[in-house]
Amino acid sequence: MSTENDVVKVMKQEVGKAAAARVKSGSIVGLGTGSTTAYAIEYLGERLKSGEIKDIKGIPTSFQASVLAKQYGIPLTTLDEVDHIDIAIDGADEVDPQKNLIKGGGAAHTREKIVDTLAELFIVVVDSGKLVDKLGSTFLLPVEVLPMAMTPVMRALEKLGGKPQLRMAVKKAGPVITDQGNMVIDVKFDSIDNPAELEKTLNNIPGVLDNGLFVGVTDLVLVGEIKDGQPLVREF
Ligand code: A5P
Repeated sequence: MSTENDVVKVMKQEVGKAAAARVKSGSIVGLGTGSTTAYAIEYLGERLKSGEIKDIKGIPTSFQASVLAKQYGIPLTTLDEVDHIDIAIDGADEVDPQKNLIKGGGAAHTREKIVDTLAELFIVVVDSGKLVDKLGSTFLLPVEVLPMAMTPVMRALEKLGGKPQLRMAVKKAGPVITDQGNMVIDVKFDSIDNPAELEKTLNNIPGVLDNGLFVGVTDLVLVGEIKDGQPLVREF
């Protein structure tokens, strides 16, 4: 592993740990998806195992989160069984200065948006490389689409000025299939000037389930940084 990868891993571990440390006994916890949240789930499991906290229940945002929760001994529940979520911890692909996000690098943004928006406290965990001045500058915008609507949705995205591409799988022939059995189109927009408007416009295209713009949802961002060779966690 290269040194750069090691540094990013340490930043992810530190923010994951910092977010897990904020979970209190008796909480219903939204469990996000991705490599950073995976550390939060691991540390949450360790706190439960050591007896530092008790009686928590997780609501997973993906098969990945559900598998990890089982691996680390976190009991799971569903949205049918609870009337609130106390806290959700989730990663992001880009974070702008207004705490708006692009998510969906793991194709889980549809379920993530359901769980994260229901949480009383939504904490985003990222390494410093995810901070951008403007959304869409480094990451394509993921859009989950029903397979039979793929072609008309692609056309509609082009009409909106986007450059759409179907996300292809790694270690599987063909496209990525989401946990719900749909496909993902990644869209390059030259400039996302109004994320709130674009989020609604995209979700209005028939066949679109949801897109990766999360606007006005984040309560707190924990950023993993390295300063003077030491990892630290900054809040904003
Ligand atoms: C999953 O679909 C995404 O929204 C992830 O939360 C996001 O891609 C961040 O993942 P990493 O923590 O692995 O960068």
